[in-house]
Amino acid sequence: KKTEPTIIIVFGGTGDLSKRKLIPAFYNLFLDGWMPDKLAIYGLGRSEMDNESFQIKLFDGLSEFSRSGVPEPESWEKFKKNLNYLPSNINDQKSYKELLNEIEELEEEWGQRANRLYYLSVAPKFIETVCRNLKSFKLVDDQNKDRIIIEKPFGYDKDSAISLNKMLQELFDEDQIFRIDHYLGKETVQNILAFRFANTLFEPLWNRNYIDYIQITVAEDVGIGDRGGYYEGAGALRDMIQNHLLQILCMIAMEPPVTFEAEEIRNRKVDVLKAIRRIPIEEVHNYAVRGQYASGWIKGKEVLGYRDENDTNRHSQTETFAAIKFYIDNWRWQDVPVYLRTGKRMQEKTSSINIQFRPVPHMTFPTSHSDNLTPNRLTINIQPHMDIKLRFMTKKTGLEMNLNSSEMIFNYDSCSTQSPEAYETLLLDAMLGDTTLFMRSDQVEEAWDVLSTIQQAWEKGGEDFPNYVAGSWGPEKAEALIARQGHFWTMDIKKNDKQK
Ligand code: BG6
Repeated sequence: KKTEPTIIIVFGGTGDLSKRKLIPAFYNLFLDGWMPDKLAIYGLGRSEMDNESFQIKLFDGLSEFSRSGVPEPESWEKFKKNLNYLPSNINDQKSYKELLNEIEELEEEWGQRANRLYYLSVAPKFIETVCRNLKSFKLVDDQNKDRIIIEKPFGYDKDSAISLNKMLQELFDEDQIFRIDHYLGKETVQNILAFRFANTLFEPLWNRNYIDYIQITVAEDVGIGDRGGYYEGAGALRDMIQNHLLQILCMIAMEPPVTFEAEEIRNRKVDVLKAIRRIPIEEVHNYAVRGQYASGWIKGKEVLGYRDENDTNRHSQTETFAAIKFYIDNWRWQDVPVYLRTGKRMQEKTSSINIQFRPVPHMTFPTSHSDNLTPNRLTINIQPHMDIKLRFMTKKTGLEMNLNSSEMIFNYDSCSTQSPEAYETLLLDAMLGDTTLFMRSDQVEEAWDVLSTIQQAWEKGGEDFPNYVAGSWGPEKAEALIARQGHFWTMDIKKNDKQK
């Protein structure tokens, strides 16, 4: 596949996302030869700045955040020619006019209409203004060439997501709208599809007859940093579960797609969301646990409690941790509990999926020899370690028939090629017009619907926060939630991490 001549326009071009993720992703795509020869990247922002200062700023960002490290002078000189800055005000029509002039001049110089890719890295309140202006100034006017990438949050709840989608669909074709969820760009998350549907080995077992329960953990050791203003109105449910964790769940639970085509895959994923059992509001406390961190210690450093972070409320009821038990009402998954858990300021940064298989139906070995008999488990580690582990029982070496649990491991780190960053994968797909890994409007709305009653129950407040210490694994109630059915959260932390 080849990218066509492209003009990329980043609203919020001087922001954190642009510096940390977007520009490094564009640069790496450039290094790997994916960028078209005719390329221009425009950063838009409020500050007055010339192209050169913008380029210097991005160079520093690249040196710090790019997987390829400090740019080589030769490549950087070539790349930076494509980087431009345009001071602009989202609310001022003059800015859109100027942008259009720039784009048209460039297209005239290139002698062809370029693909235009708009990245909206702006606060949700500005999305509508930007989209309406893109449309009315004809910055977006070719259905096949012009695309818009939108960052989450996609709304605040189901109703706001529906109005946001309505506004977008009124202006653009659904194929032009790329709702980004960077978890879908992660190598290990994409590999779930290959693992499940490019092998015959696992799929026959991938159902309620063999699987006891599933758990998905996305734990972070960081706090909310300087994002208090955003996070206070969001919380873990909106920030992580509604998008990243539910998307991973869809990949794990979906039916086999007939083809690897965007609509087919997105249909199979939305089927999962539709089948997730809605939790009645009066039952929420039995299915969902929330937490908020108090001050504590992480890797030898004392850290603040959530309520003492910048821009948070001293009596905040915002959750920084959420654990939920779901059921999926369909033939494949009926009665299999699926536990999702995410939190900030937890002991380790680790994201993993655990598929816990049922115990053996009959114990062949004498109990004294089988003390350690543990059911099979498949662990998919998403980050920071990227591997897949299958745990199974083996005989311990020796004269007696003693059993032991062993692991078979596929380790990504041992692959010869370096994994691209999630944003590289997704930005390239957007440039190629491939929507497979992006969220369709109905997926977003269903995901909100799944969480609706939990949101309503939690909005009433009344939780005794803070209820977990920074550096722990979250509130005790989350242990109780999973222990009720004799299950437990599985941790797969490498020993050397613990020593760090
Ligand atoms: C973002 C959330 O979508 O994902 C952040 O808004 C979170 O709060 C981040 O820290 C986690 O991403 P990753 O790729 O570091 O796991």
